[in-house]
Amino acid sequence: MTRKIFWKKSIDQLLEVSSGKKGLKKVLGTTGLLLMGIGAIIGAGIFILTGIASANYSGPAVVISFAIAGTACFFTALCYAEFASLVPVAGSAYTYSYVTLGEIFAWIIGWDLILEYLVIVAAVAVGWSGYIVNIFTTLGVILPAQLINPPGVHGGIINLPAVLVIASITWLLLRGTRESSQFNSVIVVIKLSVILLFISIGVNYINPANYHPFLPYGWSGVFKGAAIIFFAYIGFDAITTAAEEVKNPQRTFPIAIMGSLIISSILYIVVSAVLNGMVPYYLFKETAAPVAFALESVGIRWADIIISIGALCGITSVLLVGFFGQTRVFFAMSRDGLLPPLFSKIHKDFKTPTNSIILVGMVAAVIAAFLPITAIAELVNIGTLAAFIIVAAAVIILRRQKPELERPFKTPLVPLIPVLAIIFCLFLVAELPTITHLRFLIWLALGLVVYYFYGRKKSLLTGNAVVEEARIEE
Ligand code: ALA
Repeated sequence: MTRKIFWKKSIDQLLEVSSGKKGLKKVLGTTGLLLMGIGAIIGAGIFILTGIASANYSGPAVVISFAIAGTACFFTALCYAEFASLVPVAGSAYTYSYVTLGEIFAWIIGWDLILEYLVIVAAVAVGWSGYIVNIFTTLGVILPAQLINPPGVHGGIINLPAVLVIASITWLLLRGTRESSQFNSVIVVIKLSVILLFISIGVNYINPANYHPFLPYGWSGVFKGAAIIFFAYIGFDAITTAAEEVKNPQRTFPIAIMGSLIISSILYIVVSAVLNGMVPYYLFKETAAPVAFALESVGIRWADIIISIGALCGITSVLLVGFFGQTRVFFAMSRDGLLPPLFSKIHKDFKTPTNSIILVGMVAAVIAAFLPITAIAELVNIGTLAAFIIVAAAVIILRRQKPELERPFKTPLVPLIPVLAIIFCLFLVAELPTITHLRFLIWLALGLVVYYFYGRKKSLLTGNAVVEEARIEE
């Protein structure tokens, strides 16, 4: 029994499943997937965390924080692209580690992805709440502070708008309303237009004096800021969960992953430079909606509502993708027997995994109701960084184990690029607060207990058909 936890799924068998009758319909082309990537990436990070990171950690040097976090993602994305084109099967990092490292690592990653996506839903809902409150305020409606803040922030009791938006999305998903590629494209176009509008207006109001001091909290602030702002880049990995629905994944994935990441990085750096040029960094302490705040502070009220609506659209698409990603990870793990079958049960009328959706909705709503966004984002970041590290390591391992596999996209300069990805990600993990490290370790320990008592025994990876190393003696 001891070696079973290191059993691996076979790549050939996985490919057979995804291309056979059981595979999902392949409908996504390059543009659709690229827009999906941008839809999943640009959201609460740029519209909210930029203000928090500038005010508390990086100052105007938040542009450097963005560049550091972006570099970590760039190296990691090159690793994801190799896997996504080699194993275009649903499940993302969870599946990659099942084929390279073995079941126990797949479990850890799956458990970790649960943390990433579930908590993203909560974090992004809190961001959504910030912008809707801002719209009300602009219209002259002041909502009671107790109902729009978590405990400990401005006398808050509960963040009700965040709970309500999660409840609405849960309801939408339960009814089977799927975010179609077309719907996503519309939202992404609105979101990008709003960002470009902001840049084109804001650039005229830059006061160079606001860039001094450039490093008010020193380099350590810039690094801490990078660890927080990393959140803004998360999402390019989420498109790999849709692998089975992609046409010509060998070509499409590398372009969509790298393209969406590069476009987002450029926009982030420009937006954060403009923001900090418009308003002295410390003023961002006072707002949950920095982009709208910057426009207001230079006297442009008319654009405020437009920007806020654009931000809401952007944040909503991230919310949807995170929610979907989560239910898919639950689904994949449950289909493999690592989680109870009720999570892969599909409702007979709505054709949606209702149990997973309700559970995700409830847990995310509780987190969003009572925690501030920074604490939630830090937790998402550590979970995602851990997944990135394992994917980068898996590229090196699979190159050694199976050099003969035909890799349609090859991560360049292996092992240098994956090693750089690992170093950058470890660096960002180290910059996160100790309390986040502790919370993460507790989550992992809990996961291993669940695996020991449930997944290890119920895993379906026992028959000859699905194991590559079934001959390993127990
Ligand atoms: N990158 C996503 C966002 O910024 C999670 O909202």
